[in-house]
Amino acid sequence: MSSTLQNPSRTAIGIDVGTSAVKVIAVAEDGEVLERREVAYPLSTPQPGWSEQNPDDWWAATEQALEGLTDGVAGIGLSGQMHGLVTLDAQDRPIRPAILWNDQRTGAECDEIEEKVGFDRLVELTGNRALTGFTAPKLLWLRKHEPDNYARIAHIMLPKDYVRLKLTGERAIDVADASGTLLLDVAKRRWSDEVLQTLEIDPAWLPTVLESPEVSGRTPAGIAVAAGAGDQAAGGLGVGVDRPGPLSVAMGTSGVVFAALPEYRADAQARVHAFCHAVPGAWHQMGVMLSAAGSLAWLRNVVGGEFSGLTEEAAAWGPGTDGLTFLPYLTGERTPHADPNARGAFTGLEIRHNRGALTRAVLEGVACGLRDSFDLVGGGERGRVSGGGARSELWLQIVASVLEIPLERLAVEEGAAYGAALLGGVAGGLWSDVHEAVAACVHTHSEVQPVQEWIEPYRELRERYRALYPALTQLTGS
Ligand code: XUL
Repeated sequence: MSSTLQNPSRTAIGIDVGTSAVKVIAVAEDGEVLERREVAYPLSTPQPGWSEQNPDDWWAATEQALEGLTDGVAGIGLSGQMHGLVTLDAQDRPIRPAILWNDQRTGAECDEIEEKVGFDRLVELTGNRALTGFTAPKLLWLRKHEPDNYARIAHIMLPKDYVRLKLTGERAIDVADASGTLLLDVAKRRWSDEVLQTLEIDPAWLPTVLESPEVSGRTPAGIAVAAGAGDQAAGGLGVGVDRPGPLSVAMGTSGVVFAALPEYRADAQARVHAFCHAVPGAWHQMGVMLSAAGSLAWLRNVVGGEFSGLTEEAAAWGPGTDGLTFLPYLTGERTPHADPNARGAFTGLEIRHNRGALTRAVLEGVACGLRDSFDLVGGGERGRVSGGGARSELWLQIVASVLEIPLERLAVEEGAAYGAALLGGVAGGLWSDVHEAVAACVHTHSEVQPVQEWIEPYRELRERYRALYPALTQLTGS
């Protein structure tokens, strides 16, 4: 690919500050991806269950990835890993490494928040319960365990917003990412005075809240930088889920079923997240399973082989794998059981079961997990698939048959960076709003239908699958 863009003023840039790397893409007005760059950075786990990154590594990587790419482009959009806590001192310098979305140290603080605010009130206000990965519990952890660092806090923000600060000098956040802090009044789309007061968090620390396509600031060269969105809302936009209609079914390391909502709606038990969408005045709901393609990656590490070979062996087995069932809770779970101690399992093993059977059971177990999220977001008539798992035709057939809906593949699949580019383009005037951006850029190219003969066996499998977690928690003690 060329390193200079031919007509940069008709181009938008999307930045996704991910957990392993920053990804930067340049997108033309018709949605074509003109340039793609990725720069990796380290992740540290100083103690079991901890997960941290240095905010200046994000910025150094982003600067490197943007080199020579931004001259004259219309707009830049930001997306990134959600929930991570960045703490800055009065000179805007990071006080300590950021504590990331997959950090598990805050169990006690989650209990404390649900007790202080009240579970029902917390869900009503923020659309969510307190989960270890979210931002507010991390702040309470810091107050308790690192009081000296806590005393130096002048500002807090999320990962992509630190990159924005460096890029534009502005402290801002979008409503979608802010929804994952547990400090936003998600229905009103502004910080919650009630939650802040109850948790004794200084509102002056918080960045300005904007709608995702709004201009949050400009680069030194004057390029508009959109507020952007957390990676899930940006990813949803990137597959064209800008209004109620098709669901997004993301089969990455984690698995997400994402629905755009016409109005704010929180699940009273908070089994799915209710967040502001990257579309002004709209919301989304999503179920998040923590090990989707991650479960298949785990199996491959354990049994060996290549993904393509494993799925070929899996195709030799029929639906339901002769009674073998896999529970995918390898790293705990969020939906439908918010339980960091949930554990995975194979049940129903018999002597005939081989590597292909184990693989098929994993593909089917993950599909059942996606079905749990699908039901909790209220179902849908079709899905749009993305993520590494969506490259397997067999897996898509299994998921389509378990969800009982057709699944559409996208012509361009670039994840959250693509949604970020659409937002950047709107901020820069390439498209008039997010709906126009989606219509111009997001196209489906093929679809996978449910296999009719598998539907009934999969209904039986789902019953078996759903009975497993309550039965096994008694043994694993979670
Ligand atoms: C969403 C979530 C992940 C992270 C990691 O709730 O935790 O999508 O944003 O990318």
